[in-house]
Amino acid sequence: MAEQILILDFGSQYTQLIARRVRELNVYCEIHPYNKVPEITSDIKGIILSGSPCSVRDEGAPDVDIDAFRGKLPVLGVCYGAQLLASKYGGEVLPSTIREYGRANLDHIDLHHDLLKEMTHGSQVWMSHGDTIKELPTGFEVIASTSSVRVAAFKVEGEKTYGIQFHPEVTHSLEGKNLLRNFVVGICECNQDWTSDTFIDATVAELKAKIGSDKVVMGLSGGVDSSVAATLIHRAIGDQLTCVFVDNGLLRKNEFEEVLDSYQHMGLNVIGVDSKQRFYDALAGLTDPEAKRKAIGRVFIEVFDDEAHKIEGVKWLGQGTIYPDVIESVSVKGPSATIKSHHNVGGLPDFMKLSVVEPLNTLFKDEVREVGRALGIPENIIGRHPFPGPGLAIRILGDITAEKVKTLQEVDYIFIQGLKNHGLYDQVWQAGAILLPIQSVGVMGDERTYEKVVALRAVGSVDGMTADWIHLPYDFLGKMSNEIINRVKGVNRVVYDISSKPPATIEWE
Ligand code: XMP
Repeated sequence: MAEQILILDFGSQYTQLIARRVRELNVYCEIHPYNKVPEITSDIKGIILSGSPCSVRDEGAPDVDIDAFRGKLPVLGVCYGAQLLASKYGGEVLPSTIREYGRANLDHIDLHHDLLKEMTHGSQVWMSHGDTIKELPTGFEVIASTSSVRVAAFKVEGEKTYGIQFHPEVTHSLEGKNLLRNFVVGICECNQDWTSDTFIDATVAELKAKIGSDKVVMGLSGGVDSSVAATLIHRAIGDQLTCVFVDNGLLRKNEFEEVLDSYQHMGLNVIGVDSKQRFYDALAGLTDPEAKRKAIGRVFIEVFDDEAHKIEGVKWLGQGTIYPDVIESVSVKGPSATIKSHHNVGGLPDFMKLSVVEPLNTLFKDEVREVGRALGIPENIIGRHPFPGPGLAIRILGDITAEKVKTLQEVDYIFIQGLKNHGLYDQVWQAGAILLPIQSVGVMGDERTYEKVVALRAVGSVDGMTADWIHLPYDFLGKMSNEIINRVKGVNRVVYDISSKPPATIEWE
C-alpha cells in the first residue's frame, strides 16, 4: 500500500468511524490497538489517537510512547487522545464539572489555523467526555473553545501536533469532515488517490505476486463479500481459482440456480454441489439453535473438503473476510463475546493444510460494494441483503425438514419479491421470514383451520451490530399477509416483528 494514516485505537466506540471518514477522503488508513503499535514506516503520513471509555487519570490507563513519533509526524489526538497528549506533557486533566455530552458550538475558533480552515464561527461539534483539559502544558495553545470547554482544540507550537476534545468523525459535528480533511490532506499532505480502481490494480498485482502459479480454492455463498473476493482473485490468476458453491438445502427459493448462473456469466470457474440431503440428514431432529449451527458448519466443511481434495495440488484457500472482522478480532476490547456462533468466521480446520488469502481484509462493507461495482459484478449480487451462512435453518424455529424449508421458501419469496416490486428492497438492510413452531386457529371459507404462523422481519442497520425494525407501510404489510395466506399452503397467520437489536437480535435463533 502507498501512503496511509495510522489510527491508534484506545477503545472508543467511534474509532471505526474515524477510519471511514478518512477513507471517504480517498486516503487509506489502518486501525491498530494502542498496545500493538506497528513499525512507523515511511508510508505513514500522520497518526490519529482515538477516544477511549477510560480516563487518563485511571491507574493503568491506556498509554502509548508518543515521543516515538511526536514532532516527526503530524499527530491528532481526539478526545482521550487529546487528553493523553495534554496530561503526558505537564497539563492537567480533571473530571468535568458540567455536562460535556452532545452538541456544542465552537464560539471561539481560530480560522486562520491550518487545522480549522474552512470551518465557521459557532460551528456545531459533538462532545462526549467525562474528563476535560483544565490546563495545557507549556508550548501548547488553545485554538478553539466552546462556552463551557475552554480547551476544545489545541496545537503545539512549532510542530504539527494537535488535540481536539470533540468528535469530528460523527455526523453531528457538522464540519468535522473539513477538520479531518485539513489534517489528512492539508497537514499530512496525503494525495487522495486511494480509490476502487487503485485498490483493484494494487490488489491484483499483490495477488499475482503472492499466488504465482499455485491453485486456489474458495467457497462462495452468493453474498457480496465472497463474490467480490473471488472476482479479484480470478482477475489475478484466472482459472487457477476454483470456486465451490454448495446447495445446503437452506437457501432461498431458486437462489442456487440463479446465483450459480450469475457466477458462470461472470466467468468464474465454479462447481455447484448439491448436498441438500447431507445437510437435512445431519439436521434431523435437532432443535437447539447452536446445535443446528454446529451441524451445518461441520457438514459444510466436510462437503468443501471433499471438493477441495478433487482439485490436484491446491495450495491456497480464498476467503471473503472484511475489515470489521479483522478489527474485531484484534481490537482493544478483544473479540466480542459469542452471542451466536457464526460458523463462517470460525477459521480453517486443521486438516485442510492450506494458506489463506483474504483480498478484502482491509475494506469496509460499503467499500467492498464499490470495488464490486468497479469490477463489473452485477447489481443483483452487489445489492443483495446479507443472508446468514446457516440460511433458513435459523429462521425455522425447532427441527428442520425439507417440507418446512419449502413452506418458508415460498413465504420468503413472496415477501422479498414484494419488497422489490414496491421499491422497498433497497431501503431495507435485511429482510426475511421466520417459520414459528406453533399453530393457530383460523377460518377459510366455512372451514376451521389449524395451521402455521409466520413472522416477517425487515430491519435497518449499518453493520448488523445494532438494528431497528423498519416501519413498512401498513397497506404493503396487508398485501403481503393476504398473498402469503392465500398462496402458501399450511400458513394461516402472518405477524410483523417490531423488535430492535438490542435487546432482540436480527435472526430469531
Ligand atoms: P444477529 O441475529 O446476531 O445477526 O443479530 C446479525 C447479522 O449476522 C447474520 N447472522 C449470521 N451470519 N452465520 C452467518 O453467516 C450465522 O450463523 C449468522 N447468524 C446471524 C444475520 O443474518 C445478520 O445479518
